[in-house]
Amino acid sequence: MSPQLARHRSVLPRETLDLLSPQPGEVWVDATVGAGGHTRLIAERVGPAGRVIGLDQDPSMLERAKLNLVGLPVELLHANFDQLVAALRNLGVQEVDGVLADLGFASDQVDEAERGLSFQQDGPLDMRLDPTSGESAANLIARENDFNLAKIFFEYGEERHSRRVARKIVETRKQSPIHTTKQLADLVRSCVPREKGRHFDPATRVFQGLRIAVNDELGSLERLLAQLPRIAKPGGRVGIISFHSLEDRRVKQAFQDRETWEPLTKKPVIAGEDEVRDNPRSRSAKLRVARRQS
Ligand SMILES: C[S@@+](CC[C@H](N)C(=O)[O-])C[C@H]1O[C@@H](n2cnc3c(N)ncnc32)[C@H](O)[C@@H]1O
Repeated sequence: MSPQLARHRSVLPRETLDLLSPQPGEVWVDATVGAGGHTRLIAERVGPAGRVIGLDQDPSMLERAKLNLVGLPVELLHANFDQLVAALRNLGVQEVDGVLADLGFASDQVDEAERGLSFQQDGPLDMRLDPTSGESAANLIARENDFNLAKIFFEYGEERHSRRVARKIVETRKQSPIHTTKQLADLVRSCVPREKGRHFDPATRVFQGLRIAVNDELGSLERLLAQLPRIAKPGGRVGIISFHSLEDRRVKQAFQDRETWEPLTKKPVIAGEDEVRDNPRSRSAKLRVARRQS
């Protein structure tokens, strides 16, 4: 299949660039290339004398991003950002002027039914952002006991009816395996009431919790945050765009270490009304930026 141009639209592009302020000749990392939107903006700023190293754990996003980055000084790597230091050492890079991570998934990944990330389309219950490694959501659901499943839905999905859903899964899987997104979404809808005045699907929180667990999203973020002090030069800038409070809390906490970081955002930067109207995904985006102390 030939790569298609990506659909994903970058969030907070102007704010990210203004705060990170990449300069000509600098070396930068985009730890989450996605469709390459932010990568492109950074690469244009560092110019031909600079260098941008772009990581993504999803090879198909890297293929898409390539089309958006032709002629720019960008090297793309298939890697999880929790291996950032090792990936940079392999390229002979010890320190960089800046790092951006725009967490979560790209619109293109959700749109592909076969990735199993969407409860709006039927597909295999996979959910791995890196389809080359790890365990699918279907396997996890088949294996975990109801206590652990409820924990995932409650802690990562903030689903109040987590125990009810977990029990129903365990009951259902005794009869037949749950291996499609539709099976799981229908199961959740059968035991989680639709909240009054809320428009979102009752399956939303369970799907979010499972996706976070399958991809160990919080563990990867913590490992990334722990590595940033080792690779950001004194004066180097790091920016993290997060999409829910579990992520933002960890970023906020990491940047509170004043021996290492000078926060450049006192409060997280959020999208303005115009951006939210044009790109609804930006509604929950929060950007925090910090500078490595000299
Ligand atoms: C929100 S999108 C990035 C969009 C990008 N900033 C743009 O402007 O097009 C997030 C991307 O990060 C990737 N990703 C998520 N977690 C990752 C991780 N731990 N390591 C590497 N890539 C990751 C996803 O596969 C996805 O392509």
